[in-house]
Amino acid sequence: MLLDRTSGMVRSEASRWSVVARRVMWVAFGVVLASALAGCIEDPKRDILDPVSDSADISAYMYNLLLAVCSVIMVIVAAWFTYSVVRFRKRPDDDGELPPQIHGHTQLEVAWTIIPTLIVIAITIPTIINIFELERRPGEGEPVTKIEVIGKQWWWEYNYKDEGFMTANEMHVEVGTTVQLEMTAADVIHAFWVPQVTGKRDATPGRVYEMFFNVREPGEYIGQCAELCGSSHALMGIKLFAHPKEGPNSYAAWVASQKKAAEPPRSPEAQRGKELFMQKGCMRCHNISGDARTELHPKARRRETGPDLTHVGSRTTIAALTLKNTRENIARWVHDPQSIKQGALMGDPRFNTVQVSKEEAEAIASYLFRLK
Ligand code: CUA
Repeated sequence: MLLDRTSGMVRSEASRWSVVARRVMWVAFGVVLASALAGCIEDPKRDILDPVSDSADISAYMYNLLLAVCSVIMVIVAAWFTYSVVRFRKRPDDDGELPPQIHGHTQLEVAWTIIPTLIVIAITIPTIINIFELERRPGEGEPVTKIEVIGKQWWWEYNYKDEGFMTANEMHVEVGTTVQLEMTAADVIHAFWVPQVTGKRDATPGRVYEMFFNVREPGEYIGQCAELCGSSHALMGIKLFAHPKEGPNSYAAWVASQKKAAEPPRSPEAQRGKELFMQKGCMRCHNISGDARTELHPKARRRETGPDLTHVGSRTTIAALTLKNTRENIARWVHDPQSIKQGALMGDPRFNTVQVSKEEAEAIASYLFRLK
C-alpha cells in the first residue's frame, strides 16, 4: 500500500500498477527512440564522413577542418567564460565597486582583431584551394565517363550520350574513372547529392552545371534530391553503383547489357502486357528500344518524358527508390501511381485519362519486369 502525499489517501494496488505500466511505457519509448536514432547514425550509405571518392574526400576534409577549428574556439571560450563566472561572482562581502574596466585597452583590441582574422584566413586558404580542386577538369586524353543528368519531378534521367542509351535513378560508374556529370532540370530546381561520393549541386532548368568525381571503392551508394522541389521531393532518391574495372560485375559488362535491345516477351501474359503498353499509350512517354512500336523518337523527348524502360527489370528499385523492383510493385505503380507518389506526371488526371485496371497492370508488369 502507498500513501499519496498530496491527498493523504491510501492508493490502491491498481493505481500502483498503472504507475509501473507508465514507467515501462516510457522506457519502451526511450528504447525505440534510441534504436531509431542509432539506425540513422549507423546507416553507412549516406555518411559524408565515410567518403569513397576524391570529391567526397574534400568535403569530409573541410568538414573535419572546420569542426576542429571551431571545437578549439568553443573549448577556449567556454573555459574562459566558466572561469570568469566563478572567479568574478557576487560575494557576501562585495563592496559594490566595479573591477578595473578594460574599455579602450589597445593590446586587447588588437589581439581580438588579429586572432579572428588569422583564423578566417587559415580557413579561407584551404577552402579556395579545394573549390578549384573540385572544379578541376579532367586532363587531355584522360578517360572520362560523361553522363547527362536531368532532374524531373520526381526522378532522375541519366543519358549516357557517348554510349547511346538512357536510364533512370540508378547511376552506374566505374571505379577509378573520372565521371563528368552535366546537370540540368526539366521543370524546377533539383539538387544531386550522393553523400559518400559527391557534394551537392543544383540541377537547374535552362542551365548546365558540371560535377566531377572519381570513386575508389566498388559498392552501392545512396543519394537524395537535396532541393525542395515539390510535393514528392522526399521520394526522389538516387542509387549509385560503382563497378570494378574487371570481372563479370564490371562497368563494361553493365554498359554492354544496357546497349542491348529489349528482350521480346516470352510468355502470353507478357505479350499481352506489351500490347497493353502500346494500347494504353505508355510508349508516348516511355522508350523501350528494340521494337519500332515501343520506341520513342529522341526528338520526342520533353519535360513529360518518363524513364527509359528498355532494361527496367535490371534495376533494383522503381519510382526513384520509392519501391523495390518486383513484379508486384510494378503492377501497383502502373495501376495507381498517384497513391504511391503524389503529383507524379504518370497517372496525373490532367494528362492521362487512360485507366489501367489491376489485371491489366499485372500483365504490363509481367512484360516490364522481364526487361532485364
Ligand atoms: Cu527534386 Cu527535390
